[in-house]
Amino acid sequence: MPLVTDFEISEIDLPELNEGEILLKSLFISVDPYMRGRMTNAKSYIPPFAIGKPIDGGVVAEVIESRNPDFAAGDAVLGHLPWKEIQAVNTGNVTKLDKKVPLSYYLGILGLTGLTAYFGLLEIGKPIAGETVVVSGAAGAVGTVVCQIAKMKGCRVVAIAGSDEKKAYLKDALKVDAVLNYNKEKNCKAAIARTCPEGVDIYFDNVGGEISDAVLYNINKNARIVLCGQISLLNHMEIPVGPRPQQILVKRSALMQGFIVTDYTTRFNEGIQQLAQWLGEGKLAYRETIVKGFENLPETFIGLFKGKNIGKLLVEI
Ligand SMILES: NC(=O)c1ccc[n+]([C@@H]2O[C@H](COP(=O)([O-])OP(=O)(O)OC[C@H]3O[C@@H](n4cnc5c(N)ncnc54)[C@H](OP(=O)(O)O)[C@@H]3O)[C@@H](O)[C@H]2O)c1
Repeated sequence: MPLVTDFEISEIDLPELNEGEILLKSLFISVDPYMRGRMTNAKSYIPPFAIGKPIDGGVVAEVIESRNPDFAAGDAVLGHLPWKEIQAVNTGNVTKLDKKVPLSYYLGILGLTGLTAYFGLLEIGKPIAGETVVVSGAAGAVGTVVCQIAKMKGCRVVAIAGSDEKKAYLKDALKVDAVLNYNKEKNCKAAIARTCPEGVDIYFDNVGGEISDAVLYNINKNARIVLCGQISLLNHMEIPVGPRPQQILVKRSALMQGFIVTDYTTRFNEGIQQLAQWLGEGKLAYRETIVKGFENLPETFIGLFKGKNIGKLLVEI
């Protein structure tokens, strides 16, 4: 588990603003589980963070000075940028944002986590009305959106989360059909069987580990298992070996597929438009957990692995 003391906050001099550049003040910084994967030198789809250099990730910022005619002070932008309070950037690294939308949404529901839910469920899960969909990490940024899209598609949704507060939110606000608090279940396999009497047709897996083992024992013929994330394993130095699932997959003719949201980059506009439309129509509820203060970034990031958030976790600078 990363510690706050593994992080350092340092002060540096601001560089001169070069012709074509803009000076940005960060407004919201996203903390995401995948960043933990960048804190090792294991081979991945994205290179590790460099020790001694700033962490980088999703940032929404305001232009406070511009030497670029296409940007003016007061514009809002989104970029994959270093964790800095103020920085000069090349405008090729940022996208201008529509300020009519709450700006934090671009790091969540109208950003990568919303798109992950949208493409993962619809393209790999391929939900059909009447099917049973199980979602782990259900009260988080991706999970809350998956649950709601699955409900819109006419599925029966069973959510798994780690606290009774999350359980109540999923049931009362998101109207899922059943919720399991895995911290209160002695036998998760039996709990899935109890809450999914007709078996599991789609499993949207945000967490991996023992919770996923329990779901796999309950899958139906032709089930689809969407491997979105394995947060329960990210802090293990050695991955614990569970039951090997291949036999279950063979017997049930099931599909298990991993994906990275950027596999769908060419279709992001379609996803954002659809998510924005559902939001506008009131079909999609959206919740964020916002912590204030740049200095709280490390602790907030670590909070992801302690279940501190409901919905998208962000730091407001
Ligand atoms: N494939 C992609 O392109 C892609 C893109 C974005 C995110 N993801 C993945 O999707 C998953 C969700 O991401 P997110 O941004 O929406 O995060 P999130 O769900 O908002 O936050 C993390 C949540 O994970 C749960 N968790 C943490 N440690 C756990 C453990 N040991 N066992 C079970 N649950 C645990 C906690 O909720 P509880 O209180 O319920 O335990 C925590 O609140 C992550 O695995 C992430 O890596 C994948």
